[in-house]
Amino acid sequence: MSTPKRYTITSALPYTNGPIHIGHLAGVYVPADIYSRYLRITGNDVAFICGSDEHGAAIPMRAKKEGVSPQVIIDKYHSIIKRSFKDFGISFDNYSRTSAPIHHETASEFFKKLYEDGKFIEETSEQLYDPEADQFLADRFVIGTCPKCGNEEAYGDQCENCGSSLNATDLISPKSTISGAKPTLKQTKHWFLPLDQYEDFLKEWVLVGHKKDWKTNVYGQIKSWIDDGLRPRAVTRDLDWGIPVPVDGAEGKVLYVWFDAPIGYISSTKEWAVREGKDWEPYWKDKDTKLVHFIGKDNIVFHCIIFPSMLKAEGNYILPENVPANEFLNLEGNKLSTSKNWAVWLHEYLEDFPDKQDVLRYVLTANAPETKDNDFTWKDFQDRNNNELVGNFGNFINRIIVLTNKYYDGIISAPNEFTETDKQTLTELRAYPNVISSSIERYRFREASQELLNVSRLGNKYLADEEPWKLMKTDPERVKTIMYVGLQIAAALATLSEPFLPFTAQKLKNMLSLDTIATTWNEIATKEVLLPAGHTIKKATLLFSKIEDTDIQRQLDKLAATKKANEIENKTVTPQKDTATFEDFTKLDMRIGTIVEAEKMPKTKKLLVLKVDTGINTRTIVSGIAEHFKPEDLIGKKVTVLVNLAPRKLRGVESEGMILMTENPAGKIVFLNPDEDGVHPGAVIS
Ligand code: MF3
Ligand code: ZN
Repeated sequence: MSTPKRYTITSALPYTNGPIHIGHLAGVYVPADIYSRYLRITGNDVAFICGSDEHGAAIPMRAKKEGVSPQVIIDKYHSIIKRSFKDFGISFDNYSRTSAPIHHETASEFFKKLYEDGKFIEETSEQLYDPEADQFLADRFVIGTCPKCGNEEAYGDQCENCGSSLNATDLISPKSTISGAKPTLKQTKHWFLPLDQYEDFLKEWVLVGHKKDWKTNVYGQIKSWIDDGLRPRAVTRDLDWGIPVPVDGAEGKVLYVWFDAPIGYISSTKEWAVREGKDWEPYWKDKDTKLVHFIGKDNIVFHCIIFPSMLKAEGNYILPENVPANEFLNLEGNKLSTSKNWAVWLHEYLEDFPDKQDVLRYVLTANAPETKDNDFTWKDFQDRNNNELVGNFGNFINRIIVLTNKYYDGIISAPNEFTETDKQTLTELRAYPNVISSSIERYRFREASQELLNVSRLGNKYLADEEPWKLMKTDPERVKTIMYVGLQIAAALATLSEPFLPFTAQKLKNMLSLDTIATTWNEIATKEVLLPAGHTIKKATLLFSKIEDTDIQRQLDKLAATKKANEIENKTVTPQKDTATFEDFTKLDMRIGTIVEAEKMPKTKKLLVLKVDTGINTRTIVSGIAEHFKPEDLIGKKVTVLVNLAPRKLRGVESEGMILMTENPAGKIVFLNPDEDGVHPGAVIS
């Protein structure tokens, strides 16, 4: 454990266009909460900051869809999200929102300072405009083909296939996701942050300065953006929802949501400081403060390139000490998706498992997507609850507390002389605070959670080896010592589990009447006695309870129902295209082919290079299906091929044709086979 410091810990501000689900909790909020709680109980000065991200083009879009005002949408989800955080024990010092006046003020001032200091480039340029919807198109509302890798569904700001950061005008054959129209170009003036001018600073700060201590996935992404060459980035937008650009000649323009949102961390800190009678500035400007951003991997560029450049441009702010971004969590093998309702929503989870907040926290930590994407399954949830929480942690606590009550009416007896095993057990116990600290301080929360379970494992093993229940008749004096040692382990668990399982820790503290003898993290490592002889504990209450197969089946049924509902919904989602004449159709030449070779395109996630025997010849076809099939499983497959599609180059490989596919409701790409699982009338062939 290091010496106490001041920490500003932020976790990504969630968008208020929907409730939050297990993916949010696993990727961002649980690790941030463990870290913050740990730092507080080890004596640090912590500001754990968050709030709702209420701007951006998605909010008015959603409002339009639901036929209400944007304000109604943000109010609704802000309160649902805030409630979920509270219910799951996420211990924010402040949860604000970017619609708050203090935020509008803070973000405007920030912009003005940069503007007045001449940090922006002002430029009139042509931007994509949707002539049908009569509006400029925000980056996320343009999709098209990535100029770098050929992914046909790249967004206007980023290609999720190859990770390239893009400008919307770079996309090949762009289309508006609002109306489907082909965007036109229209002149408009905007302010740009010249990121290219921050390249040396970023290189020095991250690539040299944090090569060793940042996660490799984070470091790798930053390096590739810098290597690709940074370009000026517009920090204003033509939208009517957001913070008005606070300078003359900017009517009808608002701050880019990714400009204002991270400033939300600062305004939320201010709001907190005002309420608590503190000074916010040291939390953002004092060189001795450690700033840590908890985010998901899709937020890396914003927190590691753009926001730091903004802070640098402003000139008075500290930079993050670390940005421990996580990978993604999947659910039962499929990507979590708000629009497809493929999620475990936190408010719904609590209806089904009202007293199991800690169980979800634990399972999401033990299986956290720290170094790679991970899968949440209900079976794993059940197993971890039943075996690890009930069978290990709960079992140990229950035994020691029940026996103490049974043998001594809850009053701890003075121990006799310690055996070698007793001494060893206590020594081992004293090592755990440092072991767990070390994992947490390196952002290895899964590892830390497993070390915590090792503490109760130590207790279980000790009791199983010493068998006090057998000795009670023959050697009651020895039993006093055993129970005493066991109770020290229980007391340590009450404190060490607090960052991970805050509700359980509280119950355990109550059972042990620990409130009267506050045991700190540090004391566990150094003190001889945590629970003294003569201290009275309370009766045992159950910390965890078994989850039955029927509980799990209910959840699986719910997901199956979601799949079904998606199938039905999907039948109507894609509108029919314009009429094609018979001549149009006869232009297309479709044949049956056999896949004879398949291999991954190097350095891409989605692309496979296939050799297909079309009967005419054996040709190369590049297909974006690598995430859905293993190359070796494709050999020998018969497929439908559009053979006279104009050849095109993808990543330098010429593709001569297209294999026809469709998608099942869970988003899995499948070959044309109408009997395939879940493929339904209306599924688009493409
Ligand atoms: N709302 C964004 C998301 O959910 C995260 C914003 S983080 C902040 O992806 F830094 F901008 F606040
Ligand atoms: Zn790409």
